[in-house]
Amino acid sequence: MSQIIDGKMVAETMKVAIGEEVKQMVAAGQKAPHLVAILVGNNGASETYVANKVKSCEELGFASTLLRFDPSISEADLLAEVQKVNDNPDMDGLIVQLPLPKHINPDKVMETIHPSKDVDGFHPINIGRMAKGLPAYISATPQGVLDLLAYYKIETAGKHCVVVGRSQIVGLPMSILMQRNHPVGNCTVTLTHSRTTNLAEICSQGDIVIAALGIPEFIKAAHIKPGAVVIDVGLTRVEDATKKSGFALKGDVDFDDVAPKCSYITPVPKGVGPMTIVSLMKNTLLAAKGVIY
Ligand code: GUN
Repeated sequence: MSQIIDGKMVAETMKVAIGEEVKQMVAAGQKAPHLVAILVGNNGASETYVANKVKSCEELGFASTLLRFDPSISEADLLAEVQKVNDNPDMDGLIVQLPLPKHINPDKVMETIHPSKDVDGFHPINIGRMAKGLPAYISATPQGVLDLLAYYKIETAGKHCVVVGRSQIVGLPMSILMQRNHPVGNCTVTLTHSRTTNLAEICSQGDIVIAALGIPEFIKAAHIKPGAVVIDVGLTRVEDATKKSGFALKGDVDFDDVAPKCSYITPVPKGVGPMTIVSLMKNTLLAAKGVIY
């Protein structure tokens, strides 16, 4: 049986350290880090994610501002709102919650956020700097996965890491990060996606499998080599009448099928999810300290 990677516990531990640092900053007369979140419309999942980010800010002594806009806001007006945050020296980090309404080009929005405030790490400059190994904001979920691997002292150098999914937010940056010459890195990386043939065969060669494809319980025991490390980034809402909320959160890995076969596994929930917010807080603290830019 595998060891369960307790993302909730690691996240709580990291939160305490961040909260302490903020306390010391404020005691020394510096201002608290300030995160701004822009939410357009009222997508249910986005509402929950943004509410959790604001709550984390409160817990850790950060300032936060939530800017809500009607889904009918024009692209030009939204870009102007982003620019206002760029120009406000009191605001350290800005996230624009995705997805955006169809008439707004998310790439335009991401490129309008100043790279020094792009604590989501979605701006092409941050992605490019990350790929080159230069100081950069690294997107929150991949950073959370790196921190989990580090916390559990899971050896990565020389291992074959198979990433499933090529999203801009997770799969692509994850694949770049795992091959870097870095304490958590130095893997031989295979990036697989929806057009990959023989997916099960390739996955089952992975010493580390990172599933980020967004299909609930897709990864079965047949995809996994005995003793592999399995990281489940999936988080899909599926209807579940037995839950008060009416839905359950499912990962990309069929946990009950896979867990007996691997060495380490992240559950859903309480695996990678809690780490994502901590990474965002970490990036916002870096932004407030001006460490990266
Ligand atoms: N939508 C889903 N995940 C994310 C995220 O990490 N950041 C933002 N801004 N939007 C998201």
